[in-house]
Amino acid sequence: KETVVSGIRSTGNLHLGNYYGALRNFVKMQYENNCFFFIADLHSLTTHPDPALLHVNVKNILAEYLAAGLDPEASTIFIQSDVPEIPELYLLLNMHVYVGELERTVSFKEKVRKQPENVNAGLLTYPTLMAADIMIHKATKVPVGKDQEQHLEMTRRFSRRFNSIYGVEYFPEPASYNFGAESIKIPGLNGTGKMGKSEGNCVYLIDDEKTLRKKVMRSVTDEGPQVPNSPKSEPVENLFTILKIVSTPDTVEYFEEKYNNCEIRYGDLKKQLAEDILKVTLPIRERILDIQNNDEYMRKVVKAGAEKARESAAKTLREVKEIMGFKSF
Ligand code: TYM
Repeated sequence: KETVVSGIRSTGNLHLGNYYGALRNFVKMQYENNCFFFIADLHSLTTHPDPALLHVNVKNILAEYLAAGLDPEASTIFIQSDVPEIPELYLLLNMHVYVGELERTVSFKEKVRKQPENVNAGLLTYPTLMAADIMIHKATKVPVGKDQEQHLEMTRRFSRRFNSIYGVEYFPEPASYNFGAESIKIPGLNGTGKMGKSEGNCVYLIDDEKTLRKKVMRSVTDEGPQVPNSPKSEPVENLFTILKIVSTPDTVEYFEEKYNNCEIRYGDLKKQLAEDILKVTLPIRERILDIQNNDEYMRKVVKAGAEKARESAAKTLREVKEIMGFKSF
């Protein structure tokens, strides 16, 4: 069995990108691997330090994890801040992480642009905390979307560096994982870029039928192909990308052919797309609404999860400190 670790920040409800890039893979991996799935509430503080929302957001993600099919009997499901060994490893790792490499991280540079008024040290050291999340369980597989590739590359570098500095073969090099394919990036509905919580272009798992249909019907397209077999514009390509993920190959082929023959009606394409997204999200939505009211169940899950996660984390931390030369009197 391989050890799998992944998490999602608690910064709002989960969207299709989170689902196909991460959560669906969590669910598929949980019975064949030793899995740790967590809610990255500490990471959320780099951008969303709001005491009134912190707990609500954590609860939402937890309900969404469970609703999507994460099984607490199979996976260790926990909240990042319940495992103090993680921030301790983060502190130790930071001693071997260079400010220069952190400053060159794409996500950091993006955040500097987006929140110039709050370029905090947590943002800068975000990759170290993520590496600590992964390394604390000595994970080898990390199911994430494409946008996390660079962070994972840094985790591998930090692992190699630790091993080489201390002359040990201790940390493995974790690989990103996507079920059956390469890492994916779900585009947004507004024509360009990826679907993202802060982009306002999301379909959420919790969206009701009417809201979801409206969003999809309003997604950006173009004036339609003018000559047969013309290349697709980015907004149209994006709709096809989502269609390929949620629909059957036959459906995709049908619309490809319509497009290539200049017979496509984008309204039909969108209707189909909404239909196929709803097939996935509506049952999850129903379960979210159920679980959201079951505080007792959620409490049990994260309590047991924290215990299991801490056991594994404490072992690694103990060994790391020993390697680094800490000794008790
Ligand atoms: P976060 O919270 O931004 O996103 C959670 C997961 O969703 C994936 N994702 C997408 N995948 C495909 N298409 C999209 N449009 C899309 N948008 C988001 C992300 O790739 C991610 O897998 N740093 C992480 C959280 C984290 C973590 C970790 C992950 C903290 N520690 C340790 C793995 C292991 C993050 O911000 O993800």
